[in-house]
Amino acid sequence: MPRYKDELIEQIRSANDIVDVIGSVVKLKKKGANYFGLCPFHNEKTGSFSVSPDKQMYYCFGCGAGGNVISFVMEYENYSFPEAVKYLADKSGIALPEAEESEEEKREASMKETVMECLKSAAVYYYKRLYSEEGKLGLAYLHKRGLTDETIKKFGLGYSGKGFDQAVSYLRSKGFKDKIIQEAGLCNISEKHGMTDRFFNRVMFPIMDINSRVIGFGGRVMGDGEPKYLNSPETIVFDKSHNMYGLNVARRSRKPYRIVCEGYMDVISMHQAGFTETVASLGTAFTPGHAALLRRYTKDIRLAYDSDGAGQKAAMRSIAICREAGLNAKVIHMDPHKDPDEFIKALGADAFEKRIEEAENSFYFEIDHIRKGYDMNDPESRTSFQSETASRLAMIDDELLRDNYITGAASRFAIKEDLLRRAVNIAMEKAEAYPKKPAYFAEDDRDSRKPGNKGGREDAGKDPKTLSEDRAERYLLTWMVSEKAIYDASKDYLKPEDYTEGLNRMLAVSIYKGYESGELKIADIMTDFAKTDMASEAASVINMKLDAVESKADREKALTDLVIKIKKMALARSRENGGDADPLKAAREEKKAMESLKKIKISIQ
Ligand code: GTP
Ligand code: MN
Repeated sequence: MPRYKDELIEQIRSANDIVDVIGSVVKLKKKGANYFGLCPFHNEKTGSFSVSPDKQMYYCFGCGAGGNVISFVMEYENYSFPEAVKYLADKSGIALPEAEESEEEKREASMKETVMECLKSAAVYYYKRLYSEEGKLGLAYLHKRGLTDETIKKFGLGYSGKGFDQAVSYLRSKGFKDKIIQEAGLCNISEKHGMTDRFFNRVMFPIMDINSRVIGFGGRVMGDGEPKYLNSPETIVFDKSHNMYGLNVARRSRKPYRIVCEGYMDVISMHQAGFTETVASLGTAFTPGHAALLRRYTKDIRLAYDSDGAGQKAAMRSIAICREAGLNAKVIHMDPHKDPDEFIKALGADAFEKRIEEAENSFYFEIDHIRKGYDMNDPESRTSFQSETASRLAMIDDELLRDNYITGAASRFAIKEDLLRRAVNIAMEKAEAYPKKPAYFAEDDRDSRKPGNKGGREDAGKDPKTLSEDRAERYLLTWMVSEKAIYDASKDYLKPEDYTEGLNRMLAVSIYKGYESGELKIADIMTDFAKTDMASEAASVINMKLDAVESKADREKALTDLVIKIKKMALARSRENGGDADPLKAAREEKKAMESLKKIKISIQ
């Protein structure tokens, strides 16, 4: 990742007014000091999305998305931090210097660049070939499979011809060294023949990264040859478990979910039918790397796998991977057809849309799948199935959710509900004996990009003493941001180290640093968080609404309570982490510290 100087990033940030940048994609209306509009990150009918020209920040009171102009571009365009910085630099005509990289990094970066140029050249070559005399066979094949020329162009499909080393020769003629062609994974090398084309007699599917740069190819054989699909090997630019086919387009979809299917052809048919939210893995199974990648865009996955045994087994694995990654998966049923490609060809897009709506809950899908392994007419077998169902239900941590699933599973799988409930209870007792439970259902929504449930407005006006530890810290930080007097009054009692590690500590460090330097620039603080994926959470702290505590005495009382509470927690933490060099002395000191805490009385100037 290129690293730029903080001052440069600040310059780029302040050159891009947040109202202009957001206003160009969201319709904003001025209300008082702020602008409001419909949030681009969740579906809503009333505008809870606010943009503050003073703070140069945005914040959605509906879903909790928030940050500065950099995090907005990251979230809206699905860019990484450096990509967003580059985008804004270009937009405002600020030149980015050569990133500070070591010689080694530079060499690798330039190698990667050249390899990608080579791959792009190859894609152009295959595409041209498809529309040449030699490509007729390939073009006829794609047309026969129902693809329009527009779709072919969109995906840059091509044909690799029957040649022996035509692609290699072409690339050489374009000035690419043998070493580069080899690094790009476009050739085979043997003693007898030297460098020959890796792909021949195949229609070619260029594989692109999320920025639409070609990083590899999949090639489907014409007819029944083996293997049916040949893919590029992994190279310095082609990492199969961190890229997905179609994601360069699907990432921009405004649908709340993404559809994952198995094959390239499925993705293309789906996109052609309007389902541009579809992706597939690259000739490998779905991996945790893919789940992490998709999690940047959605938490809601619909699996559109083949209806055959292999497809269903793959769905089972993918469901487990999604669950582990905190993604909610549902299964789209394809029957009586084999895969999305065939389904759409046979029944059309509307019918598929209906299937998406009817996608099956992954828990029921799993139980259904397990049931197929048992003979429901045999009492023993049937009982085993029911026990297995009970132990899976027992793994659901949330009590209400578990109860709903028990009711649902009982009726769905014809098990007496009270019996099932008892079996689940027994399974739960048994499970207690095993400390390690599979993470069956995501425990809670900790996605820092959508922290609407954390540190939000609901804290307004609460008595500081009743706030949870985390919230007490956040409450004080919010207050400090909005009033310098609060910082001045409390800074001698509390240091950034007194805050819990993580977001709160980071915010405290930034706020203290800002005030010490004479000017607190909130939008620049947000830049640090944009790099860590905590932008929204930090924004929610800064934008938390505090009920005005009016009288001086009440304000001082509230501040004193907050400071004491936070300091106590810090003391308790340092005791826990203190080791036992001299426990007695530590205890004495803690007691002393606690005593002096009681005497604190803060005055606000
Ligand atoms: P079509 O027959 O072209 O419709 O194929 P499909 O889209 O129905 O694909 P299939 O279900 O056969 O395979 C799904 C995906 O698995 C493909 O898109 C490839 O990524 C991968 N795949 C299939 N066959 C092979 C193979 O022989 N080798 C490798 N490496 N991958 C394959
Ligand atoms: Mn197919």
